[in-house]
Amino acid sequence: MEIKNLTLYNFRNYENQKISFESGLNLLCGSNGQGKTNILEAVNFLLTGKSYRVKQENELILWGQKNFYLHAACQVQDRLISLESYYEPGKKVMKINKVACRRLSDYVGTVNAVFFSPDDLSIIKKGPNERRRFLDVLISQIKPSHVSLLNSYYKIIKQKNNLLKNEKNLNSLKSQIEVWNEQLLDVGSRIIINRGEFTEKLNDLCQKIFKNIFFPTFNINLTYYSLGKKDISQALDSFPNMLESRLATEIERKTVVIGPHRDDLLIDLNGKSAKLFASQGQQRSAVLCLKLGEMEIILKEKGDYPILLLDDVLSELDEYRRRFLIEYIDNSVKQTLITMTDLDKKLIGKENAVFQVINGTIRRENNVSSLRK
Ligand SMILES: Nc1ncnc2c1ncn2[C@@H]1O[C@H](COP(=O)(O)OP(=O)(O)OP(=O)(O)O)[C@@H](O)[C@H]1O
Ligand SMILES: [Mg+2]
Repeated sequence: MEIKNLTLYNFRNYENQKISFESGLNLLCGSNGQGKTNILEAVNFLLTGKSYRVKQENELILWGQKNFYLHAACQVQDRLISLESYYEPGKKVMKINKVACRRLSDYVGTVNAVFFSPDDLSIIKKGPNERRRFLDVLISQIKPSHVSLLNSYYKIIKQKNNLLKNEKNLNSLKSQIEVWNEQLLDVGSRIIINRGEFTEKLNDLCQKIFKNIFFPTFNINLTYYSLGKKDISQALDSFPNMLESRLATEIERKTVVIGPHRDDLLIDLNGKSAKLFASQGQQRSAVLCLKLGEMEIILKEKGDYPILLLDDVLSELDEYRRRFLIEYIDNSVKQTLITMTDLDKKLIGKENAVFQVINGTIRRENNVSSLRK
């Protein structure tokens, strides 16, 4: 998959900008605060229908303006696909080949991207929420039905929570909860199965990537930890009983305590929690490894490489790992957009497209040698 060109109107610090990208490596260079990350955010928004940075889409509109518009022409195998996003407060339109999509699940996964941002370190460092989100985004790209499952699941949780908070009559509460629990069990189990299955696939791929690219003597291991168990079939078998046995706790705490909304993805390095024991560089490498694993899964499932979006990744790695990463990308990935403040001189001389980003404008730098100091 490739993005051929991108148009931005009133998006972040871009007023009106069109960019043509190339196959292979596209290097977006510029000083801090010029608009490099904003470009990746625009591509990611077009491909996923969401911003990874903000919940309020108003924040994406160029200050002082009322709306934004994005367009991309993409190639997926031999098909050309046009993606459009228009947003104004209260109205959001996403189009594929000029046809508006009613649901996000109709849109997501048409053109795939894998995005690495320095913020993704939170997948390792923060709580289970971030790790569940990472898995759910990956699964949704391949199985759009996962988006609908999640929507249904969180509606059930909301309804059940409302009931636990507001229903005063204990008998009525118990009989209503029984109905919600049936649905929770059905939808929740399907979410657990999806997450378990994808964790297994991801684990196989990540183990190879981590050894080959990052730390030859280290072993990364991923386990989906569901309902307090490391074994998915055990978790699924015990799910109905757990819902029953934790009912008293739920009534006491007035909140749903059992279900995949509390699950986690365990990430270990050489048998020890990456969150607690890995170094900064190892944590960064582990996150990057998860993203490259995500990319390989999409390749396997879709028969085509997703577009790789790497924000500020090189400055975070030492020379050795940087070299392996670039070699890996060069040899396999179809198209990568990568941001950097200082142009990596080792990347000059190859047939890479270099762009200079200056204060919300972007310019193709044909004469690459002029960037050498
Ligand atoms: N809605 C908006 N309207 C106008 N400008 C915005 C908006 N949102 C963010 N900006 C500005 O966009 C600029 C560029 O941001 P961006 O994150 O893309 O920079 P960057 O080139 O990636 O910098 P760095 O190297 O520091 O990561 C910032 O100065 C920011 O203030
Ligand atoms: Mg940036």
